[in-house]
Amino acid sequence: MKKGLGAVITSIAFTASSLCYAGPGPEKENWLAKSVNTISYQLTRAAKTYVPGQNPRSVNPNGTLRVAPVQDWTTGFFPGTLWYGYELTKDTELAKEARRFTLQLDSVRYITNTHDLGFMLYCSYGNGYRLTGDKTYLAALADGAKNLSARFSTKTGVIRSWDFGVWHYPVIIDNMMNLEFLYWAAKTFNQPLYAQEASTHATTTMKNHFRKNYSSYHLVDYDPETGKVLDKVTHQGLTNESSWARGQAWGLYGYTMCYKNTQDKKFLEQAERIAAFIMHHPQMPKDKIPAWDFDVHNALDGAPRDASAAAIIASALLDLSQYTKDGSSYFKYAEDILKTLSTEEYMAKPGENHFFILKHSVGAFLYNSEIDTPLDYADYYYLEALNRYITIKKIDLQNKK
Ligand code: GLY
Repeated sequence: MKKGLGAVITSIAFTASSLCYAGPGPEKENWLAKSVNTISYQLTRAAKTYVPGQNPRSVNPNGTLRVAPVQDWTTGFFPGTLWYGYELTKDTELAKEARRFTLQLDSVRYITNTHDLGFMLYCSYGNGYRLTGDKTYLAALADGAKNLSARFSTKTGVIRSWDFGVWHYPVIIDNMMNLEFLYWAAKTFNQPLYAQEASTHATTTMKNHFRKNYSSYHLVDYDPETGKVLDKVTHQGLTNESSWARGQAWGLYGYTMCYKNTQDKKFLEQAERIAAFIMHHPQMPKDKIPAWDFDVHNALDGAPRDASAAAIIASALLDLSQYTKDGSSYFKYAEDILKTLSTEEYMAKPGENHFFILKHSVGAFLYNSEIDTPLDYADYYYLEALNRYITIKKIDLQNKK
């Protein structure tokens, strides 16, 4: 079913609960209907306005758009958001646009100098393949997965994140996210080694990236020959010992996803411990949108919030709610985040915000880069979370009865 611009979804139908935790009973989800209308409008306009390969990334301090060129680590998020928009609305125009923006990223398959191939290819081509089954998406995914796997070293037991910087063999917590691409590629291309590498990376990271309270360092530097840990530092957090909010979110999402792919209980336990750190953190504001670092002392009082961290946490907790006996606290926390993100404080008015959906994220505060701005990955994980939410609650957005 195709809907036009700004389609009005007036009511939402609910069906019986699933075997897993399915959230509280039926209620009128006006916030969800309103949010889907805004998403539909913003994505349709964004796709008509922007040029594939020059994808919208964020907004510069002078109010102009910052684009993500093809080789940017965030380049896959806009096509991926279009795919999730299609999944939410069933608007086939959005699927056409998602395809157009995805196919422009073909040359990413030849990139070898970053771990971000998961973000770049799995969010774009991966979602395209998942939703359409179109095999033309597979070649780029196969090449990309091969290049990501090639960055794994048996000496360190981890995938190298970056080739730049002052470090010897840097691995950032964000790298956990790119393992999903390897798990998927292992099955799809019959490459069991990819899955082994992903699990080894997750296990090594569990050992070296985490503190006693299950917060994580941002970057661990390894000796490439011996695998010895040389340093534990931050790149985007407040200090080496602080808890950068998006880093904690990447870790939560990463270990939940590793458990989903392996059924290895140690990954589930890790995810639950990270969830506890985040959910019970004294600096978490009442509305559950964290400041950009949990150790910013005025977090409850004016420090820039990071909606991208909140969206990633929501998406991860919804997943986690499905793997534990009583996932209700995870579900409820994620639902609270989604409701906050869907208020006027965080969600753009249709036509505003350069057609991004969410406002108020932080890229790299101490580099004075992307502070209090929309971010393409905030939108991506917000839409992913909404899709997870309606799947768990068995909400049929298209049923107007
Ligand atoms: N992966 C980079 C970031 O989260 O900012």
